[in-house]
Parts: sequence; structure tokens; C-alpha cells
Amino acid sequence: PLPVILDGDPGLDDAVAWLLALASPENLTVLGVTTVHGNVALPLTTRNAGVTLALAGEAGQKVPVYAGADRPLVRPPLSAAAVHGDTGLPAKHLPEPGRDPEAEHAALFIIRTVRERPGEVTLIPTGPLTNVALALRLAPDIAPLLREIVWMGGSTAQGNRTPAAEFNALADPHAAQIVFEAGVPLKMVGLNVTMQCIATPERVAALRALGNQAGAVCAELLTFYAAVYQRRYGLSGGALHDPLAVAAALRPDLLTWHPMNVQVETEEGLNLGRTVCDLYGVTAQPANAQVAVGVRDDEFFELLLERIGRLP
Ligand code: BDR
Ligand code: CA
Repeated sequence: PLPVILDGDPGLDDAVAWLLALASPENLTVLGVTTVHGNVALPLTTRNAGVTLALAGEAGQKVPVYAGADRPLVRPPLSAAAVHGDTGLPAKHLPEPGRDPEAEHAALFIIRTVRERPGEVTLIPTGPLTNVALALRLAPDIAPLLREIVWMGGSTAQGNRTPAAEFNALADPHAAQIVFEAGVPLKMVGLNVTMQCIATPERVAALRALGNQAGAVCAELLTFYAAVYQRRYGLSGGALHDPLAVAAALRPDLLTWHPMNVQVETEEGLNLGRTVCDLYGVTAQPANAQVAVGVRDDEFFELLLERIGRLP
């Protein structure tokens, strides 16, 4: 199994993504989870990390939580509480966090772990890239030691938080640009593919019908989310953004990848946070990312369903 660190801002789709990872021990070994500002403020994303690990039962019991950056590198923090609810996990019956967060900062945990396992560690960030950028700035020596970063964020096309920018990119554009410039093998799982993976009413019903607590909580979270997606985008369910990034790490064959140069707009203005993707190679700049351009969404959902069904 691939040793991974899950970095994110749970956030309801981060929680579903982490459950997918924790339920997949034959593919992934979760070394730790790290939290960042984003959908809601850091104290809540850190608490929600503990709740998510508790939902995973035994698979989450020994996984340590490290809190990271409480704000972006340069800009003021954004929030997506309108999408994820005020607490970030809009479900009625949730377990208490199983353990307290560790004292070590998320960025320092990432640095230490990558140095301990040169060439082995895959980072799966599903939020703003502040922790990852901090780790790369504090310890540039880890760039060649990372196996890969698989990030949910950006878009080859339009944004969701602004017409130009996807939320995770906009929530710390400077950090995102640092990561794209770092020379680390990088996969980008952006809105152009995640918006094809919709938690339709049939899919939500299938999760509920699993009959376990994890399936019930996923169904409840995705039902809240569906109402937001219906209002905002006229879609019949929420997009499974972050779970697709975890699936991309454990089954990269479910997506189609295209190498290209990606730069993140850090200037204020209409395009702030846009991931400018050179799909046709018109700049002649070398590729710095493998960008997902297609997804087999039925197979992805079958995988998610089967794995969530393994949990308590
Ligand atoms: C991303 O933004 C967040 O609200 C979600 O958790 C996901 O990571 C999608 O744009
Ligand atoms: Ca997220």
C-alpha cells in the first residue's frame, strides 16, 4: 500500500474522501491527517478530522491529527460555510473526536515524515495548499523526496468560487503557485473532472442502503450538500470533489491524465486564483503537472460505495 498523508479542511466532501482512504488499507496506509483553514476555520476542521477518524472505527483509531495553518500565506481567509454548514459537518448524530490533535504543526509533520521515508510518501491535499507550501518553503530538501502530490483543486475551465477560480486555489493562490513551482510530481484533480461526479439522489440512497453508520452519515452530509448544489448550480446533487482526489491516488486508471504547464494567478483582479492550464502547450513551458481531463464516474462511485460499506 502507498503511504499517504491526507491534508484538508473537512468539510463534508473532505470527510467522505478521508473515509474512502481509511477504508482502503490494501491500497493506502494513512500515516496521518493534517488540517488547514478553508471550508470552515481551523479549530473546526481539526475537530472534524477527529470526528471523521472516529467514524472510520478501527481504521481511524491510530491515525494522528496535526493542525496546520489557520490562514492563507498572504490574503485574508475565505470560508465555504455556506456550502458545508457552520460546523463543516452538517449531520445530526456524529461521534466525538476519538483523540486530541498532536502538538506538532502539520507542516513539520509533513517534513519529518517525508524525510523519514524518502521517495515513498504521497500527499493528498483536498483544501487550500498552505500547509504544503509552508513545508516546501521550510524544507526545500523534501521536494525531491516526495513521491507525489495528488491535489483536489483548480480547473482547466471555469471556477466555482469566482467565474475564474476554484475554491481551494482561490483560498490560497500564493501557496498553490509555490506548489506548482516546486518541481514535485503533481497530479491536479480539478473541477473539470470533479463536476462530472455528482452524488445524485440514487447514489445517496445507495450509500444510505449500506446500513452502516458511515454510509448513513455520508448520505446525510450529501443530502445537505445536494440542496446547495441545486440552488447554486441547478445540479441534482453535490460534486464529489475531494473523494475523487483520493480515488485518483488509489486508482489513477479511473481518470485520464494530460501533462501540462499550470500557473496560478496571484494578482488581484478578475482572475485571482485561476489555474492557467496550458492544455495545447502554446507557451512551450515544460509540464509541471499531470492534469485530470477525464473520469469514469460510474466506476469511481462503485469504488466509493464498496469502500464506505466496509466501515462500521
Ligand atoms: C473544493 O472546495 C471545498 O469547498 C471542497 O471541500 C473541495 O475541496 C471544491 O472546489
Ligand atoms: Ca476540501
